[in-house]
Amino acid sequence: MSETIHFDEAAGKRMVKWYLTPDVVKQRKIVLSALNLQSGEHVLDIGSGPGLLVEDMAAVIGSNGSIWGIDISAGMIALSQKRCSNLPQVEDLREGDATSLPYGKDEFDAAVSMQVYEYIDDIQMCLTELYRVLKPGGRAVIVCTDSDTQIWNTTNLERMRRILTTLEGHCADPRLPRKLAPKLRKAGFHNIKHDVYTILNSKFDENSYSYGLVDNVIRYVSGRNGITAEEINAWADELRRKDQEGAYFFSTNRYIFSVSKPDADMMP
Ligand SMILES: C[S@@+](CC[C@H](N)C(=O)[O-])C[C@H]1O[C@@H](n2cnc3c(N)ncnc32)[C@H](O)[C@@H]1O
Repeated sequence: MSETIHFDEAAGKRMVKWYLTPDVVKQRKIVLSALNLQSGEHVLDIGSGPGLLVEDMAAVIGSNGSIWGIDISAGMIALSQKRCSNLPQVEDLREGDATSLPYGKDEFDAAVSMQVYEYIDDIQMCLTELYRVLKPGGRAVIVCTDSDTQIWNTTNLERMRRILTTLEGHCADPRLPRKLAPKLRKAGFHNIKHDVYTILNSKFDENSYSYGLVDNVIRYVSGRNGITAEEINAWADELRRKDQEGAYFFSTNRYIFSVSKPDADMMP
């Protein structure tokens, strides 16, 4: 049974530190470039979390545009409201569900959802809602991870496999990217383009993505599926030893989908 993560305010505070590492700052830059925001546009961030991408989008959209954010976690929304309180172009950050967006039809020029849909059971409903709120000709960027792309160098492959299998329970669909394109087409999107951003860490460095990930793996996996605190700490100790030996290696892929809603004259 899946036991997805509850993203409360405490998790959000840890996430901010983690998502300000250069690996994730670079990811947001790539996503912003794919989104190709224009001054004055109306933009929606679905699953806006602590508001880091909202803040970055505000810097490019200019004072005549507007940014809206929605997240299912009240704690995340509180953090994002604090972070963006001095940004007048951030119009509204509110609690809500990606499967039932509280906006009208054809409202947004562009929308983004970064590492959110893999946490939601009804992905098709998310895409139907995304399509509904975009203007004809509007664009969307969706980012998600496939857990099979997550690798660490370890001499204990059996332990690593059990940890990764247990970790998969933290999201609803750990292999969403490979299945996403047909679902996007079914929702009505066209011009589907794929890209990939690989995070690669060769040091177990506090300022890297995988350092924060190890902390989260320990929190989630410990006590689940027969994995004891002792065992998960032994895994983390091995990673530290690998780092001292110059043999640390971590890599994962972020899949970036750029799509459009057809123009009004192209709609069926
Ligand atoms: C991994 S975080 C990503 C946050 C943000 N997009 C970013 O990349 O910085 C996932 C976010 O999705 C939100 N989320 C999960 N299920 C959701 C749903 N059904 N509707 C809206 N947001 C959801 C969580 O509360 C959390 O803030």
